[in-house]
Amino acid sequence: MIITIAIDGPSAAGKSTVAKGVAKKLGFVYVDTGAMYRCVTLYALRQGVDCQDDEKVVSLLKDINIELLKDGRVMLNNEDVTKEIRCQDVVLNVSYIAANKGVRLFLVDLQRKMGSNVSVVMDGRDIGTYVFPNATVKIFQVADVHERAIRRHKENLLKGIECTLEDVEKDLERRDYIDSHREFAPLKQASDAVLVDTTHMSIDEAIDAMTNIVLNKVGNINGK
Ligand code: DC
Repeated sequence: MIITIAIDGPSAAGKSTVAKGVAKKLGFVYVDTGAMYRCVTLYALRQGVDCQDDEKVVSLLKDINIELLKDGRVMLNNEDVTKEIRCQDVVLNVSYIAANKGVRLFLVDLQRKMGSNVSVVMDGRDIGTYVFPNATVKIFQVADVHERAIRRHKENLLKGIECTLEDVEKDLERRDYIDSHREFAPLKQASDAVLVDTTHMSIDEAIDAMTNIVLNKVGNINGK
């Protein structure tokens, strides 16, 4: 049986770390859909295209090939862009790219293909509401914006990205707003999603909580 687990929620709620952990525990494939929007953003920036020019961005899609490798590397036209898609320029522009309906249709198609014949844990903003409305398990992962900013600020400093906590929090609020107010497939909790607030959870606690939600719903998977 193919099982699809959708984990949605706002930026920097720790979705990718937790989704990766759940996928590892259950032996499923992890699909980071945010990385795909970031790849399109990086490509548009490299081509000198204004990320708010929807038509021009859509015209680039035919030249874009995105692969998510099993070892976690993100490939854009056969180039490893795993690190580059996390840079500040991409962060500042990705919400405009994610609000572009043409881009979304292109990437949703790819995401549906990725989940069509293997069990996946897919994280994003619209997985339970739009990409896989019939997902086996839907989780909406949230955390207080200040806590999210503290986590992201720490990560940035470790990566050598200079920033203030205040700016990180403002940027998260800005992205939350754009992501949840866009016209097409906005960020919102699916009516049948389980809400998990990870504000006061460690990463391991969040992984255990979500793995338990999955196992309660689908029963034992391969004795796990
Ligand atoms: O999860 P992330 O921070 O890597 O996502 C980057 C951006 O892409 C973020 O602004 C939200 C958007 N996104 C989206 O709109 N839909 C998805 N399924 C995944 C990400």
